[in-house]
Amino acid sequence: MDTNDNTSALVFTEEARAALDGFLSSWPVVTRSSYEQKLMKTLDYFRLQGKARWVTKEILVAALEETFPSFELTVQRVKDQHAIADIMEAQKKVNKKHPLVAIKRWALPAVSTTTPVRDVCALLAGPRPGGNTDSILDAVLEGARKGGARVEKHLFSKLSIAPCNGCLACDKKELATFCAIKDDMTYLYQQLLACDAFILGFPIYTARECSHVAIFFDRLKALGGPKQYAKVKQKLRKGALVATWGWPSEYLYKGVVENIAFLLRHFGVEVAEIITGSGFWDAYYAKGSALLDKKGLAQARAAGTALVSS
Ligand SMILES: Cc1cc2nc3c(=O)[nH]c(=O)nc-3n(C[C@H](O)[C@H](O)[C@H](O)COP(=O)(O)O)c2cc1C
Repeated sequence: MDTNDNTSALVFTEEARAALDGFLSSWPVVTRSSYEQKLMKTLDYFRLQGKARWVTKEILVAALEETFPSFELTVQRVKDQHAIADIMEAQKKVNKKHPLVAIKRWALPAVSTTTPVRDVCALLAGPRPGGNTDSILDAVLEGARKGGARVEKHLFSKLSIAPCNGCLACDKKELATFCAIKDDMTYLYQQLLACDAFILGFPIYTARECSHVAIFFDRLKALGGPKQYAKVKQKLRKGALVATWGWPSEYLYKGVVENIAFLLRHFGVEVAEIITGSGFWDAYYAKGSALLDKKGLAQARAAGTALVSS
């Protein structure tokens, strides 16, 4: 029996078919057939497990959640449209007793380094010093200081860092400034190579990391060239990520955050701590909203202390 035979045996209830059409219509035409195929594979797998031949709306939602973990909002729309409107309404006014913001330290396997973590270099790669990403980053740095580390924080928005111009001079020869562009990135290259731990803070913009992060990584390319990479590989640095976003759902941008951890690894940084903050939108966009989640900030401090303890 081949897979197609099994898939064709699925029968959708009218409600499930309408919900699937609604889900697919929220995506661009070019992606719809491949998304539908992926979903059918999951439903077929469910069917083989004896779970369903009839696809009800509940089964469809379970399959959507399984197939598209990073499409939480779109799936939520299929599940319960009103819940989204209710959340948007609730975000209009700050509730100090039960704030909609949540700071979370992710449960991750331990990362240890052979050398002690003494010097921490942190970069707020976002446009709002004193914003909510910065508040959480500060809590992590406070924890790192408490753990005995020296901490230096850099604000991307106060530095002059141009986007990569694609000249690839960094691939051809060893440059005194690492990159043909001579700007504040020169200092950041030095700091990154010298530190024992690197912490990157950034907000989510348009469902991905904000553009400052993209500029930062494009410029890091200069460390990946044959002349500089040996310096990157000289030691393993521990890393931490602080990411925040507006929608109050704790793992909505898990994929984006994990991709940043993947990129940092390429530049000699193994991420050991991830702290995310969700719900910072509308009334909660105001600077200082992170301070409403005191337990979450305590978790962020604990992450900072753990980062600098080998
Ligand atoms: C241009 C822009 C785009 C944004 N896009 C998203 C988004 O796609 N999803 C989301 O959940 N929040 C989004 N947000 C909200 C921010 O991620 C959130 O408010 C973040 O906590 C801001 O961090 P800050 O206070 O450090 O500036 C966006 C904010 C801005 C200004």
